[in-house]
Amino acid sequence: MSEKTLQGKRIVLCVTGSIAAYKAVSLLRTLIGEGAEVSVVMTSSATQFVAPLTFEVLSGRPVLQRLFADSQPLPHLRATEEADLILVAPATANCLAKCALGLADDLLSTLFVAARCPIVMAPAMDGEMWDHPALAAHTRTLRERGIVVLEPEEGPLASGLLGKGRLPAEHVMMEAVRSRLALRRDWSGQRVLVSAGPTREPIDAVRFITNASSGKMGYAMAEAAAQRGAEVLLVSGPTALPSPPNVTRIPVLTAEEMYQELDSRFAWATVLVMTAAVGDFRPRYPSSAKAKKHEWAGEPLELERTPDILQSLSRKRTHQVLVGFAAESEDLLANGRIKLHQKNLDLLVMNRITGPQSAFGNETNEVILLPRHGTPVEVERLPKRLLADRILDTVQEHSGISAFSRSREPNEGIRRIQ
Ligand code: CTP
Repeated sequence: MSEKTLQGKRIVLCVTGSIAAYKAVSLLRTLIGEGAEVSVVMTSSATQFVAPLTFEVLSGRPVLQRLFADSQPLPHLRATEEADLILVAPATANCLAKCALGLADDLLSTLFVAARCPIVMAPAMDGEMWDHPALAAHTRTLRERGIVVLEPEEGPLASGLLGKGRLPAEHVMMEAVRSRLALRRDWSGQRVLVSAGPTREPIDAVRFITNASSGKMGYAMAEAAAQRGAEVLLVSGPTALPSPPNVTRIPVLTAEEMYQELDSRFAWATVLVMTAAVGDFRPRYPSSAKAKKHEWAGEPLELERTPDILQSLSRKRTHQVLVGFAAESEDLLANGRIKLHQKNLDLLVMNRITGPQSAFGNETNEVILLPRHGTPVEVERLPKRLLADRILDTVQEHSGISAFSRSREPNEGIRRIQ
């Protein structure tokens, strides 16, 4: 039996009016099973789906429903004073909108405005609602305020349609809770150089060679390191992503530009996280004009190698911890070991890049962590932001940097590979 990861933590579980409210019952049991003390808040719509008595019996506490209950006036003040974390699961579209706007017309929304502790929200709704621009704006606002809004999952919805709107899996919500509770400034003092996204190698003035990287994993790494107190520079190829808070972004296009930017900052860094999908080849003779069709008739495009940035920087390392990412379609472990040694890395994060679960473009990722010293570890599928925390934890564990301190418990999401 593993140790209880939430021992003594006070969590307020807020349940709103979605059909997924029944899943909050199992979630409550899991939270309590992990040692948390849980108070449940329900909106009046939530009580249409599940009776408060269910939560009352399982939590052993009265369910808070009203702002002006006679027996316990202003319950939001006590609940927020005492809470280590607020978890809203399921969070409806209405709840996300009210919380983003800062309305305070019922117990849950008032508690939200009064809260000073970390907040995790797990949305559940119909796919078309999740895709609505108003909801996208509210989600962005909440995330900018440091609230963790998980992505709903894709699959069959209560409407009978397929789409993105299902409540995230319980293990994902639990990981978010652990991750948010463990949030420490344990990377303060570290200077982290992150590369992200694809590179773009010009053929002529309008055409180029690139790859399918979205940049999401690298941006998640930068965001996680910054939230944990590190100073972060993000050297990014072209992506559609906003800069993470408190991260300085340096935009680049080609592998050569990425190399120059990283090389000039390498001495500053204590950790290099090389998440970028760097193009390995570029056209040998790019044209500065737009080439005409007839100029190309039948001619092969001559390519040359780009610099291997990670390998070059690893030869210059003095004190830096080096983290690489490997995109592999087969023989993950064997190919990973070769890369780890060739590029002289402390940790290699190995992604699968084939199939529907490919790392490219997805919100989630399933990886194997291959430390230089120690056993490879398989990490179950997680949202990239949560995976980023797991990778930072592993860097701490294996880097031997004394400034790092690790206090988080290992959990069941990790499987050692023999
Ligand atoms: N990398 C790099 N410079 C390159 C190519 C890759 O710095 N020109 C880095 C990537 O950012 C990643 C690591 O090296 O952290 C592994 O990248 P990957 O594409 O998996 O491997 P390659 O070295 O390109 O080898 P191969 O294409 O043979 O798998």
